[in-house]
Amino acid sequence: MSKMITVSIEIEEFDSMSQLAEEDEVLMARAIDSAASAYAPYSNFHVGAAVLLENGETVTGNNQENVAYPSGLCAERVALFTAGAHFPDVPIKTIAITAQSESFDISEPLAPCGACRQVMVEYEKKYTGKIRVILKGETGKIWVVQSINDILPFSFSSDKLKSL
Ligand code: THU
Repeated sequence: MSKMITVSIEIEEFDSMSQLAEEDEVLMARAIDSAASAYAPYSNFHVGAAVLLENGETVTGNNQENVAYPSGLCAERVALFTAGAHFPDVPIKTIAITAQSESFDISEPLAPCGACRQVMVEYEKKYTGKIRVILKGETGKIWVVQSINDILPFSFSSDKLKSL
């Protein structure tokens, strides 16, 4: 006998940046600015991330590509690792992520790659607090989730290394 298990997530959807809470709007504006400085000569896909820390500091990052493609890094990890390096003891409150393409309109909220979600899970465990995620394309809806767990359920995390 088997049974189906349903996992559901809650996404808060906004029509525009001006509908966001002011703190979130400011953070997303920093992510948009950061995307403009991405080094993306191979994909022409410019991603920006802005991480808001509990101490009020904001750390930004953008994708950094390399001719040896796997050597590049996504915007989210550039921002998260920079935050981890400079403020190792300060919990992360929110990450805002957005992208701009040189060749088409990104009209849906940007979906972070699996590796970046895994890194976000690590920081949620490290700081034992939920990290909010704000996702935006160039146009279209903006999505807000209250925890990385919402966009990476059933994840591998440090507690899985111990027996139950
Ligand atoms: N990229 C990010 O920076 N973040 C994501 O969540 C998805 C993809 C970058 C990696 C690469 O430089 C370009 O976008 C195209 O994949």
